[in-house]
Formats: sequence, C-alpha cells, structure tokens
Amino acid sequence: MTTSTSVSSLGKESKELGWVKWLRAWYLLMSEILFQKIYARHLQNPFPLPPLGGINFIVTGATSGIGLEISKQLVESGAYVFMAESGAHVEVMELDLLSLESVVKFSEAWNSTLRPLHILINNGGIFSMGQPQTFSKDGFETHLQVNHLAPAFLSILFLPSLQKGAPSRIVNMNSLMHRFCVINTSDMNFTQAVSLQKDIPKFVVEFGHSYLPFLFNAQEGSRSALFAATDPDVTKYCTKLKENEWPVCAYIASSCRPIIPSREAHNVGTSQSLWETTLQMVGLPLDAVEELLTEFCKL
Ligand SMILES: NC(=O)c1ccc[n+]([C@@H]2O[C@H](COP(=O)([O-])OP(=O)(O)OC[C@H]3O[C@@H](n4cnc5c(N)ncnc54)[C@H](OP(=O)(O)O)[C@@H]3O)[C@@H](O)[C@H]2O)c1
Repeated sequence: MTTSTSVSSLGKESKELGWVKWLRAWYLLMSEILFQKIYARHLQNPFPLPPLGGINFIVTGATSGIGLEISKQLVESGAYVFMAESGAHVEVMELDLLSLESVVKFSEAWNSTLRPLHILINNGGIFSMGQPQTFSKDGFETHLQVNHLAPAFLSILFLPSLQKGAPSRIVNMNSLMHRFCVINTSDMNFTQAVSLQKDIPKFVVEFGHSYLPFLFNAQEGSRSALFAATDPDVTKYCTKLKENEWPVCAYIASSCRPIIPSREAHNVGTSQSLWETTLQMVGLPLDAVEELLTEFCKL
C-alpha cells in the first residue's frame, strides 16, 4: 500500500469545484458505477474474516443493507456486535442519528458497561436524491446531521471506550460522491450553496433508483468496510501515512485498495475549520478530545 502525493501540495482552500474537477468527479463516478465489479474481481465474496472472538464492534445503521450484512458476517466470525438487530452475540440499542440526544444516550449505554470498544463502524447514512431539503429537530440539514455531525459526535463520545480497546479503529463509510463537493464551513446547512442531493438532474435520480446489475449487492458492498475494520495491512498503512506526515487517515476504495481522496478531502486548512465547526455545532468545546482522554487516563 503506497501513497504518492506530497504533503507540500496540500493546504490551498477551494472556494468552488471548478469544471476540471467536476468533469473528473463525473468520470470517476461513472467508472465506479460501471466497472466496480471488475475493479473488485480479485476479492472473495463473502469477504473472508479472521476469527473475531473477544472483539467488540459497534455498527450503526445495521437494520438493512450493507450495515446488516457487515453485522451478520462479524457475528458469524465470533465477534460481539452492538447494533440495531437481535440474535446471538448481538445487543440491540436504538440510535437515531437525526437526534443528538439519541447519540448521547447510545454512547452512554455502551460506555456505562465499561467494556472496551475495539471497532466502531459508522455505517448509518442517507442520500435522498432529488428530495426537498429537510432539517433535524436539532436544526441541522438532515444529510449533514446523519452523515457527518452525528457520526463525528458518536466517535468522540466513544473515545474513552476506544482507548480502552486500543489498538482500536473507527471506520467511516464514505462515497465517491465526496469528489463533487467543496466544504464551506460558513454554510454547513447548504442554505446558499447548490446541493447536489436536491439539485441533482432528474434523469440521474431515475438512473440511481433503477436496478443496475453491474452494481454491488449489499454483501459485495460490505467488503471494503470489513477490510478496513479487520485487515492487519490497514494498520501498517495508517502507520506509514503518519510517518509520511500525511494529514488525514486512510481512504479505502470499494475494491479494498487504498486511494487518495479528493484534494478538498485532505486539505489541512479546511479539515481544521471543519473540525472546529463540527465541535461547535454538536455543543462540544474545542478541547473536547483532550479532555475526554485526560479523564480516561485518570481512571
Ligand atoms: N449503497 C451504495 O452504493 C453506497 C455507496 C457509497 C456509500 N454508501 C454508504 O454506505 C452506508 C450504507 O449504505 P446502504 O446502501 O446499506 O444504505 P441503506 O440500505 O439505505 O441503509 C442505511 C442504514 O442507515 C440507517 N439510517 C438511516 N438514517 C438513520 C438515522 N437517522 N438514524 C440511524 N440510522 C439511520 C438505516 O436505518 P433505517 O432504515 O432504520 O433508517 C439503514 O440501516 C451509508 O452510509 C451509505 O451512504 C453506500
């Protein structure tokens, strides 16, 4: 696993995508849609997992789709999974990512067990193509809350448990759609910006909702998350990124190969600003992480 872009090329903030990046994003999206099965033909299905006895996982969005598939396979390999479904080695707890209160209750329920958490998989997410913009009761645009604010908040609240389970991992489900975006931290609710989700052309919405035989099914779609959560090479790759002072964590493609995300996604200035805005939006102080970890060390 290697990465070639140098850190010195990072840091210039993008105000808008620009047509070259827009075309490149479309090209990459279309090739992913049409050829994902070909790019991933080296992978076995289901993804082969090592024995996972004694490993504690939390999987969000486990009621259906990829999250359900991830959870089923983890349980079959002996893992203990905390999710929204019942069965052996499984505990159930309601989590509504559209409510920050529910996020706090969910993390408190786990943290109160004093169990170490080894892997958190932030899988729950939405993409309501072509739908009108809606807002959560916390006052945030629903995609922003479910896909970013709530998983970020949850990850922070779980830090003491993750520290207890170290070496632990957080896996965030992602999408090639990130290549269509720039981040404007002064308009996090997309009130001024064109939103790809609501302003997406109708034919794309219809295409997206139709049956496309060349797309992964849920089992195939679960492989990259399972790989990111369990493969020992991922830890080595992350260590290498850190040694090379790469500013962000690993990005694993649906083919289970590490790739470089969009330039905007590893823009240090934007990341810092997004981190601070995120903490502010979920009501945490800027030193929340340090505080939580210091508290943990005192225990
Ligand atoms: N499928 C793809 O091609 C693809 C591509 C790129 C990225 N992804 C990402 O991968 C993840 C899984 O995709 P998928 O295809 O399996 O999606 P899916 O079938 O729509 O499942 C999404 C899961 O998220 C849960 N969820 C939605 N809103 C929630 C909320 N407010 N609180 C708690 N849970 C909530 C859903 O639970 P309920 O049904 O109970 O609400 C469901 O279990 C998503 O984050 C998605 O954005 C998928």
